[in-house]
Amino acid sequence: MRVAALIPAAGSGTRLGLGPKAFVEVAGRSLLGRSAAALAPHVAEVLVALPAGLNLPGDVPARAVTGGDTRQASVLALLRATDAEVVLVHDAARPFLPGAVVGAVIAAAREVGAATAALPVADTLVRAGPGGDCGTLWGTLTPREGLWAVQTPQGFRRDLLLAAHGAALADGFAATDDAGLIARTGGAVRLVPGDARLFKVTTPGDLALAQALAPTWDG
Ligand code: CTP
Ligand code: MG
Repeated sequence: MRVAALIPAAGSGTRLGLGPKAFVEVAGRSLLGRSAAALAPHVAEVLVALPAGLNLPGDVPARAVTGGDTRQASVLALLRATDAEVVLVHDAARPFLPGAVVGAVIAAAREVGAATAALPVADTLVRAGPGGDCGTLWGTLTPREGLWAVQTPQGFRRDLLLAAHGAALADGFAATDDAGLIARTGGAVRLVPGDARLFKVTTPGDLALAQALAPTWDG
């Protein structure tokens, strides 16, 4: 089965505040360049969704499409641009992607139809009340047992993911990831152990972590 990597990279990076986030560099290489290079050896083609008007840098081994207003719309544009049987969706904003995780997600997607990298939650979880505090009448403690934090890459049989996106579009349903769209239609999603280094660069604090990690990174 032919596998394509789809990289949504069309976000504006509002929380980081340094312009379109995929182009932000860590130790001399963009987040997008790092993500694409990690995926390329494992797949037949790499497709990237970019903000309108921006071009793919020369050192990124990929084909570009224009993204949409939301991550979901960007992934749908990518899905429509390939005919591969299996697709691997990976955020440009997760630059440290171990090859072993890529292989495990592809294998699980082939077997189950849908799979995602994820990590068991290690912290205590609470829901804050309206005033921002927990422990009052409104605060709730959520047992963390059985809870996983979902990462990317996420792998799918392309026909399954296209159908899930079509259903979400028809219903006006929005999700922050693609496995959520499959789960919503009743499909199984296999959880594959991810990696702490697969964190998403979202805030300035995450960028500081990425800069500290980059010199030690060997994929
Ligand atoms: N993304 C995308 N198209 C969008 C929005 C997001 O392709 N319209 C991509 C981002 O480029 C990123 C991934 O989806 O690789 C995860 O999104 P996020 O971390 O939220 O990035 P941004 O949307 O750029 O950041 P922010 O929400 O802070 O603006
Ligand atoms: Mg966003």
